[in-house]
Amino acid sequence: MKILVRVDFNVPIKNKSVIDDSRIVASLPTIKYLSDAGAKVILIAHLGRPDGEVVPELKLDSVAECLSNLLKKQVKKIETKNFKFNNEALHKLRDSIDQMELGQVVMFDNIRFSPYESKNTGTLAKDLASLADAFVLDGFAVAHRASASVTGVAKYLPSYAGLLLEEEINGLKKILKKPKKPFIAIMGGIKVSTKVPVMLNLLPKVSNILIGGGILNSYLKCRKYGVGMSKVDGSCDKIMKKMGKKRKMILPVDLVVGDNKGRNFRIVRLGKKPHNICTGHEAIYDIGPESICLFSSYIKKSQTIVWNGAVGYFEQKPYNIGTLSIARLVASRSKGRAYGVIGGGETLQAMKEIEMGEFVDLISTGGGAMLEFLSGRKLPGIEALK
Ligand code: 3PG
Repeated sequence: MKILVRVDFNVPIKNKSVIDDSRIVASLPTIKYLSDAGAKVILIAHLGRPDGEVVPELKLDSVAECLSNLLKKQVKKIETKNFKFNNEALHKLRDSIDQMELGQVVMFDNIRFSPYESKNTGTLAKDLASLADAFVLDGFAVAHRASASVTGVAKYLPSYAGLLLEEEINGLKKILKKPKKPFIAIMGGIKVSTKVPVMLNLLPKVSNILIGGGILNSYLKCRKYGVGMSKVDGSCDKIMKKMGKKRKMILPVDLVVGDNKGRNFRIVRLGKKPHNICTGHEAIYDIGPESICLFSSYIKKSQTIVWNGAVGYFEQKPYNIGTLSIARLVASRSKGRAYGVIGGGETLQAMKEIEMGEFVDLISTGGGAMLEFLSGRKLPGIEALK
């Protein structure tokens, strides 16, 4: 049986090498399961946003190499240029797939080299579907995109959820449907517009939402606190102003402000009424020590935790203390006493730094997809499988 598998291998690459293979590792169970069962596995993946152009730096050679090493067998890349197939090319491709060995794994180059992928236009979905007998969506991280290789192919083939997709959906559903209380959400990061819908959807379900990072800065700015050069996203001011005052929302009680190199910094208490937190070129870069204690008192009592977004500029010492402390607390509380879920690039990076990921119940591979799921939206990729 020939199976098309849409994975999310959108991984960071440096000097032609994959520097974080987590997303590839996460899809290994599905790939191995199909391959061990004797299927001919045809992988489809994307890298970056080449917008329908062939961008050499975004080719998937290093990804195929990384996967070959992990699988301990050669994963051949199928060269298709920009996926504009004519009948002859399609015939040739079908022939080569028919000649694959049972259990063999092959991989297309970056599907976003096709101008038809992102908006699911033209005949791309149909052409891809004509190569296989069934379709498996395993890339949870791309399930929020209505692309040809995510939702399009599912119209033409019997379609199924992969093991990773299933695991992530079940884990996130647990949080939305039957969360054990106390249930806390920790929200940070810069893009307020993507976090606000999540907080609105979670508010009725959670015991508390602890906020830090850019979300906090934006809230303070719209409440007329002096936040200096702090990063803010003013896209949801009205809603943040209203939401921030709710009793369930827990704000830090002190903040670390300073320069962006971490050379000069100080701790500022956060007053209830607007005041100048920063002066001159200062910015808010972290939550302070008392806030870490405060947040820890909530985390230590929780039975369900969801965390998305750094609470400070953790790439720069000493502003990493808040985020790394949260990471340690979440990991220590998870698997047993609480059901802990984390997601988002920075959050995963912080957890990686402290090497405690193995203690977290679910590390979602989806950044945007996880946020959309938690905000209650239906993800097109999942809907297409129903
Ligand atoms: C991600 O990295 O979040 C996914 O691969 C989706 O990528 P996109 O935001 O470019 O669609």
